[in-house]
Parts: sequence; C-alpha cells; structure tokens
Amino acid sequence: MLQKPRGTRDFLPEEMAERRAAERLMRDSAARWGYGEVCTPTFEHVELFTIRSGENIKQEMYTFEDKGGRQMTLRPEVTASVARMFVNEGRSIPKPVRWYYVADCFRYERPQKGRYRQFWQFGVELIGADSAAADAEVIMVADEVLRSVGLTFDLKVGFLAPMKHLLSDVESGLQRTVMGYLDKRDMDGLAACLESCGQTDLEGALSGLVSCRNPAEAIEICGQIPEQQRIEEIFAILDGEEIEYTANFGIVRGLDYYTGMVFEGFAPNLGAESQVVGGGNYRLTHLFGGEDTASAGFAIGFDRVMVSLGEHPVDHPPVVAVLSPADVRVHAFAAARAFRGEGVRTEINLLDRGMGAQLSHAAKIADYACIIGRREAEAGTVTLKNLRSGEQREMALSDAVSEVTGVGDR
Ligand code: HAM
Repeated sequence: MLQKPRGTRDFLPEEMAERRAAERLMRDSAARWGYGEVCTPTFEHVELFTIRSGENIKQEMYTFEDKGGRQMTLRPEVTASVARMFVNEGRSIPKPVRWYYVADCFRYERPQKGRYRQFWQFGVELIGADSAAADAEVIMVADEVLRSVGLTFDLKVGFLAPMKHLLSDVESGLQRTVMGYLDKRDMDGLAACLESCGQTDLEGALSGLVSCRNPAEAIEICGQIPEQQRIEEIFAILDGEEIEYTANFGIVRGLDYYTGMVFEGFAPNLGAESQVVGGGNYRLTHLFGGEDTASAGFAIGFDRVMVSLGEHPVDHPPVVAVLSPADVRVHAFAAARAFRGEGVRTEINLLDRGMGAQLSHAAKIADYACIIGRREAEAGTVTLKNLRSGEQREMALSDAVSEVTGVGDR
C-alpha cells in the first residue's frame, strides 16, 4: 500500500470542515482591518530565499531543477514572495499595502508533533508604513485573528535594538552564536559560550534584557538608543488598546530576518512546538530590485492552531439521504433536486441495494432519510424519517423540505 510522503497529512471531510470554518473566521478578522487577500506561486526561484538567508537555507527547502535547468524551490514561507510581488506589482498601488494570505509552505525538517514538511500559514504583510502605529497594528491584527477562533495564547512582544546595541562591539561570528542561544532560550549554553570567550560581563546584561518586562528597564540595561521613542510608542499603543502581552527583549526570531519590532505567540496547551505565530519588522524589497521599504507582518502556524483548539465537532447543517427502489428512481431525483434547491446537502442512493440496506447506510451518513417507496411514488408523497429520533411521517415533498430547512435555521 502506497503511503503519503513523510511530514505530510491527508485531511478527511470532517477535519476539512473544521479547518475551513477556522480559516473563514481568520479571513473575516483580517478583512475587518482592511487587509485584502493575495496569492503567490507555490514555487519560486531559489534566489528569492538564498539572497536573504544564504546558500545554507537550501538544506531546509524542497529545491529542484526544472526542465529548463532553473533552480526552483517550494516556498518555505510567504513573506519573501509577497515582498517580491510588491516590487513587481505594487509600484502604482497606494501605500501602505495591507495584504493577507492563506498558503501551504514546505520545509525539509525532521517531522514531529506540530512540525510538518507541508504546513499552512495564515499571514499578513503591511508594506510601506514606517511607524509605531504600523508595528502596533500588525500585533493587534495577530491578536484579533487568533482570538477570532477562540485560541488561548500568550503574546510576547520585543524589539531587537537593545540587544543589538549590547552586542555592537562583539565580533559578528560570536554575535550570531549568542543570538542563536537566545533564540533557543538556552541560557546555560549562552553562559558557557560567553565564559569561554571571556565575555562574562555581557551575560548579566543579556539575561537582564531577557527577563525585563518593560521598555524603561530595557533602556536602563542597554543605555540610550535612537529607537527608544519608537519602542515606547509601540508599547503605549498596545497598553492603550488593552492588548494582553508581555514585553520580552530577548526575542531574536531567527538570525537575519527582522530589523526592529519582533513578536511571538505561544499556545500553552501545545508541547515543544507551541509557537503559533511569529512576526515583526523587516526590509526585503531592496533585495529584490525595489526601493528599500519598511515592512511588518506575521504568520500564524494554522496547523498548530487547529491542534491547540482540539476536536470541536462542527455543528453541521442537516444532511438528507434520499432512498428509493431503482424503478421509481426519477422520484428520488426530483426529491433530491427539491432539497438541494433549498440549499440542503442531499445524497441519493447509487448502489443496487434493498431499502433496508439503504436505510442502515443512511443512518451512518445523514440526519434525515427521505424514503420514496412504490407506495409513496404512486401517492405523490415521501416518508421523512428523522434518523436521530427515529420519528417518521408521510407527507408532501414540499413539507419535508420545509421541515428539514426549519431545523437548519435553528
Ligand atoms: P516562522 O516563525 O518561520 O515565520 O513561521 C511562522 C509560524 O509558522 C510559526 O510560528 C509556526 O507556528 C508555523 N510553522 C513554522 N514551521 C512549521 C512547521 N514545520 N510545521 C508546522 N508549523 C510551522 C515566518 O514564516 C515569517 N514569514 C513570518 C512573518 C511574516 N514575518 C513577517 N511577516
């Protein structure tokens, strides 16, 4: 038996119904903030990602050569594609642009719970606004989108400048190593690393930054920095809008992507892979041949959100199964057409089986059976059976349709 590729999943209709319902709520939230949906290609030229992150990123991507000898890759994320699209298409569009996307991404990772090789992101990019209000807006949209589906999460907001300032005199190789430890929240590893290279004085300042809980404390640790006002303004907006978050100036978010504000959200009921959203300020457009443009955005790990929400059976609209012997099948077609005409999901029997077998199948897949035996066919009626309560009554087809749609409106 052939199996699906490692790190991928199949979704049955029930699960897809839940995913689509959650997706719809997320889309509606983003749209309320003025964000319009965009769609970019599933595969891109590999340079789109190596320009920013270097050749090593290829190890984490599904890269291939196409028949024309071009190096292509399945997208590992969507931000770079959206920035490219902004450069290609956005010149004449009024700024800032507010765009959102729902897209599958591909990363060649070691699969585990909450970490897949194909996964879906719900993301937002705000391009062309360089202000504290823009930074705060992106955080607030993420907060609202996650709330719209009823997720419980902890939001952590930071800014890179204080840490970068502390590390400004440190040689760049060590800087990356230090930020790598901070990214993994590996404070013991960090301490050992700083000790081995005689930088123990940095350790106190860095752990102070990681544990401080407001901008004033961060500035006290790193000293005056030009970004101070921007940082204070972002946090003031979030406080004014009563957003629940914790300040955390130890957030690094990877190594080479972000330029200023950074934020992350975690769902406490998930295990090791509990990060459900990540985002911040970045600058990519100048790398793709455009003007240098301030940008901010985030991506939600849609699959992790669904795992965190757990199994909430969707309250689905009723399903009708129309049953009939083959010789009165035209009546079944007419009945199905009448139900569908009123928006009811209706399935008819397609197999050569008796009424008893049809009824027991219907009990597994439907809420109502609309039975048209020879007697009903002759009388111009149907028997509507409620498969949950077992109640059944013979009636006119139009009454059966009203009874089912009446339940649907409940
Ligand atoms: P990211 O942190 O790499 O950021 O991914 C965003 C979210 O996608 C993560 O927080 C996580 O929930 C989910 N995710 C990542 N990898 C996997 C995986 N292998 N399996 C399941 N879920 C995963 C970005 O992608 C940036 N483009 C975000 C951004 C947008 N920054 C600015 N704009």
